[in-house]
Amino acid sequence: MSGNGHSDTQVDDGHEAAGGTESSGGERVVALAFAVAILAALGLTVVYSVGGQPQLEGLFLGLALAGIGVGAVVWAQRFMPNEEVTEDRIELASTDDEVLAFTQAFEAGEENLERRSLLVKLGLGALGALGLAAVFPIRSLGPRPGRGLKDTGYAEGVRLVTVQGAPLRPESLSPGTVVTVWPEGHENEADSPTLLIRTGAGKLELRQATVDDVVAYSKLCTHTGCPVGLYQVQEQLLLCPCHQSTFDVVDGAEPIFGPAARPLPQLPIGLDAQGFFVALGDFPEPVGGGFWDRGR
Ligand code: FES
Repeated sequence: MSGNGHSDTQVDDGHEAAGGTESSGGERVVALAFAVAILAALGLTVVYSVGGQPQLEGLFLGLALAGIGVGAVVWAQRFMPNEEVTEDRIELASTDDEVLAFTQAFEAGEENLERRSLLVKLGLGALGALGLAAVFPIRSLGPRPGRGLKDTGYAEGVRLVTVQGAPLRPESLSPGTVVTVWPEGHENEADSPTLLIRTGAGKLELRQATVDDVVAYSKLCTHTGCPVGLYQVQEQLLLCPCHQSTFDVVDGAEPIFGPAARPLPQLPIGLDAQGFFVALGDFPEPVGGGFWDRGR
């Protein structure tokens, strides 16, 4: 009997020794994973703050996330109870024994966490470092757009010119003609293309100043900003080729078909002393599609 008892004791010691070795090996893996995550997150912060390099940033972000993930998974597998427990549903209220068992298990878990305080600190450090790195991309939102989305190159007295910079007189346009013009000095600026149209129509319903039957509308569709390039002279309609929004030229470019909800902004125009077309101011509203601080 005493021989058996001796033998049992030897086997138990062997299990404990094996369990202890496995446990400390697991701790090392978790600590290493969290340490890698911290270093990678700090590396990401440094690379971003000195100007950024997408491949390195991706590598560091991947390492930080992988470190946290590996650490959490190994921790859960090695140090958390993982046996499956099933229980018949009988009484919902816990018995005294169950309350006692829960309290003991909770306190054992607390002790477990306290014993592994280094891992807890490293885990929190990894999450904190990743959070710090995540703050930096806010800088990438860039400067505020200011009035850049609302103003164009037009102002009072600025000539309307072709893309080659040539100014235009009313006699340059025969009835039914449309020419794309820009503010002088801002040729080819993306927000400024303007359709200068001699409608030949006798009656115009417009909100801005015109020269006879010549009107000027922004060329940028008010749906999502495609160039409105098709002018149907007979019907006096402007068509956007992207989603077929249709604007009524003689009625202030009001949309009469398609997804655009606003008329094309009209540029107020007049003539300067030499008889060339000039703007009498900027467009009265932002050109192009809607954006966040517009009603529609
Ligand atoms: S962009 Fe013109 S209809 Fe959509």
